[in-house]
Amino acid sequence: MFSFIRSSNASFAIDLGTNNTLVYQPHKGIILEEPTSIAFDSKRRSFFECGESSKRMVGKNPKNIEIMQPLSKGAISNLTVAKAYIKEVIARISRKNFLKPHIVVSVPSDLNVMERNAVIEAGREGGAKSVQLIKDPLAAALGSHHAVEKPQGVLVLDVGAGVSDISLLSLGGIVMSKSLRMAGNDIDEAIIEYFKASKRVLISPLDAERIKHELGNLFKEEEKVLNVSVKNLITRLPETFYVSSLDVHQAILPIADKIVRLTHSMLSELPPVFAQDIYDRGIVLTGGSSMLKGLDAYLSSKLEIAVNPVENPLHNIILGAGRVIEEERYGSLLGA
Ligand SMILES: Nc1ncnc2c1ncn2[C@@H]1O[C@H](COP(=O)(O)OP(=O)(O)OP(=O)(O)O)[C@@H](O)[C@H]1O
Ligand SMILES: [Mg+2]
Repeated sequence: MFSFIRSSNASFAIDLGTNNTLVYQPHKGIILEEPTSIAFDSKRRSFFECGESSKRMVGKNPKNIEIMQPLSKGAISNLTVAKAYIKEVIARISRKNFLKPHIVVSVPSDLNVMERNAVIEAGREGGAKSVQLIKDPLAAALGSHHAVEKPQGVLVLDVGAGVSDISLLSLGGIVMSKSLRMAGNDIDEAIIEYFKASKRVLISPLDAERIKHELGNLFKEEEKVLNVSVKNLITRLPETFYVSSLDVHQAILPIADKIVRLTHSMLSELPPVFAQDIYDRGIVLTGGSSMLKGLDAYLSSKLEIAVNPVENPLHNIILGAGRVIEEERYGSLLGA
């Protein structure tokens, strides 16, 4: 077991994602899975609810209550909010008499030094005794039982909410990676924009996400429709609107094509020594947005390579980060 866990302070792994936060406690498993969101009361000048309970307030909050997202596109966008959020998370997972916990936080591979330091500062000031970081693709590969420590290439494509990242792993490290600050939230935004421009109706972000889950498909199938409450931008009045899967297909294609281009640019720059490994084994596809219908087959058909979705795309990063604190041999994967 990794050395710091032998101390009396508890240890936790945290996947701090743009939309979702997960926490793993060694030998217990996932103990928290909540939206990365916190509510701020400007009258009392204090943060109060975080996670699901604050997300449920969206759209129903009075003026003095603001629902805030500490992360934007994978990075901390507001340090004060992030510290308050991590403090809430730590308070929830630590029993009152616990000493300050050690935490391992999983972060995107492309964060710059300032962004990485912001996570460490937020963790320390949020109440952690120590903060170590692990890069998302390494955690994702470990969480889906790929042998990252071997001298062979593993190519991981993580399409989350704010970031799409493709990384080549070998010998416990990242050989190269490319990322795009565009993922599931941008697909929701593309759906909103498409219906605004072509149908003159405004769809709420929550409905856009529901439409994506229920009708989103990168291949044209038989038409399906979904009944959604919208605002008519011509009459300015609310109305019920039938959203067609054929329109949703058109709306989401441009984002999928950007993910194809990101992946293509990685494949075209693969060091020759890894090319055989990668083309033999294919790409490991993870992240919540990997569940977008047809994404694996779309990538595979455009790039002529096998694309293998992981079994548990919302959990494999946290399970991998959990393995790092449970199994001493993976301690070397941690960075500052
Ligand atoms: N069935 C589904 N179809 C399409 N998208 C889905 C589905 N289920 C979840 N998603 C999307 O997955 C995204 C959340 O994924 P994930 O939890 O991996 O992101 P995150 O870790 O919070 O963000 P990031 O890694 O980019 O910082 C959301 O955009 C959500 O809409
Ligand atoms: Mg993520």
